[in-house]
Amino acid sequence: MPITASTTSVAETRQVAAALAELARAGDLLLLVGDLGAGKTAFTQGFGAALGVVEPITSPTFTLARVYEGRFVLNHLDVYRLAQLDEVLDLGLQELLDGDSVTLIEWGDVIAPALGADYLEVRLAFGDRDDDRHITLEPMGTRWVARARALAASIEPWVTREQEAS
Ligand SMILES: Nc1ncnc2c1ncn2[C@@H]1O[C@H](COP(=O)(O)OP(=O)(O)O)[C@@H](O)[C@H]1O
Ligand SMILES: [Mg+2]
Repeated sequence: MPITASTTSVAETRQVAAALAELARAGDLLLLVGDLGAGKTAFTQGFGAALGVVEPITSPTFTLARVYEGRFVLNHLDVYRLAQLDEVLDLGLQELLDGDSVTLIEWGDVIAPALGADYLEVRLAFGDRDDDRHITLEPMGTRWVARARALAASIEPWVTREQEAS
């Protein structure tokens, strides 16, 4: 079942991501979904910082993939420009996922069919005010469904009552 957190600043979105990073395990895959400017890269920055990445995390739009060193190796991909699935497969994604690293893919929903069944979908959407964002988590596959309770607990400070009720 999806859970939604709400933030009112980029710093807060980074905090949500950092809280989720505490649950990261080697081989994890997170797909970041949402329009341009929704905060996919900002989320990755908070996530990476919590993993101990000290290097600045920048948008990989023109490089496809960047690799950072932290408590885990963090692979950060942006597949926005990829028109075809075989281009993604050429990136050697499966090798990345089989390794000891954690992988975050912006615009990852485009390639979800080519990926294994196990991933956390992180959907970022604009809210009412300029700096409002809604971050919806949807665990896909047993690897993430098994952590659903822990996921909910980690973002609990940002889940509003109205959302819990709906
Ligand atoms: N609550 C928020 N969460 C994330 N980003 C926010 C928020 N409020 C404002 N922003 C701004 O929105 C932009 C998000 O950009 P970015 O993370 O690069 O988006 P994307 O990677 O999804 O295209 C940044 O300029 C950031 O400062
Ligand atoms: Mg981005």
